[in-house]
Amino acid sequence: MKILVTGGAGYIASHTNLELLNGGYDVVAVDNFINSNIESVKRVEKLTGKKISFYEVDLLDKEALREIFAKEKVDAVIHFAGLKAVGESVSMPLRYFKNNLSGTINLLEVMEEFDVKNLVFSSSATVYGDPATVPVTEEFPLSVTNPYGRTKLMIEEMLRDISNADKTWNIAILRYFNPIGAHESGDIGEDPNGIPNNLVPYIAKVASGALETIHVFGNDYDTPDGTGVRDYIHVVDLALGHIKAIEKLQKNPGLVTYNLGTGVGYSVMDIIENYEKACGKKLPYVIDPRRPGDIAETYADPTKAKEELGWIAVRGIDKMCEDTYRWQSKNPNGYKS
Ligand code: WQD
Repeated sequence: MKILVTGGAGYIASHTNLELLNGGYDVVAVDNFINSNIESVKRVEKLTGKKISFYEVDLLDKEALREIFAKEKVDAVIHFAGLKAVGESVSMPLRYFKNNLSGTINLLEVMEEFDVKNLVFSSSATVYGDPATVPVTEEFPLSVTNPYGRTKLMIEEMLRDISNADKTWNIAILRYFNPIGAHESGDIGEDPNGIPNNLVPYIAKVASGALETIHVFGNDYDTPDGTGVRDYIHVVDLALGHIKAIEKLQKNPGLVTYNLGTGVGYSVMDIIENYEKACGKKLPYVIDPRRPGDIAETYADPTKAKEELGWIAVRGIDKMCEDTYRWQSKNPNGYKS
């Protein structure tokens, strides 16, 4: 089977491509390098000893996308490509709507034109907004508080309407919680542009000396230690969830939706402590005011994915931190080095 992976040079895509290749799939990767590096593709090829058919194409270039589908006999698509910085989306919503929504519509139109009706969509727990209770199931109400999250929810709604109109589509919507970690080789990992927005890549740069101190965004939340609680999931577990979703689509399920999380919530302080164990040193931190838009606590109920995909996350927070530290130590400047 040949899988086309959009955003194919990115963090989660590179880990998914590795598992696809190891699982015997052929991979066509498409990326415009807005937030990624061709080096990640080369590293996955080296780690697997297999080739990726790569195209530097922007999903906004519909003609170029058509040429790929005309050339490659694609069986299914995993759609990762999209801008994903919450704060940035607030300051430039139109760029997010254009890139994420128009890019997705181009992709869906070309898929339909070439009769490729199997799609795995990279959604996010952000579509749950601030859940009234935890753990979160797929039946929880959906609400968003920023343009990035709105694009994820709007794409989900488009996919539900498409599925209702044409039952020949098989679509798996995967709602990621907080992906962190890296492949155990330390050769691929998260390589954010500039100063990381997210907690673990920021901690990793403090541990490596690239940044001075960790800023804890608030310790007055209604949580055990007052800091934000999230469901951190190892990126390799997440990647393996995509393989299970591709297998699920072979059974013509129509549209299905799954939380991909561990079902365990960790606070900011828990993460700092686990990362200190991984790197073998105390890490400096200061308590800052809350970050606008942050919620206190969320973590998944991953039962549905276990029952319907036969998937569970097996890598613990210690391995997530150890694997991040190895990647950061081997690649202090990410792929640029
Ligand atoms: C985690 C916790 C912060 C940075 C976001 C997006 C979500 C998904 C994952 C794309 C929170 C605290 C953070 C820091 C801190 N992205 N924090 N200091 O906000 O849960 O989710 O990234 O799909 O859509 O919303 O992740 O890592 O930014 O924050 O204290 O320097 O760490 O307050 O409690 P978040 P995060």
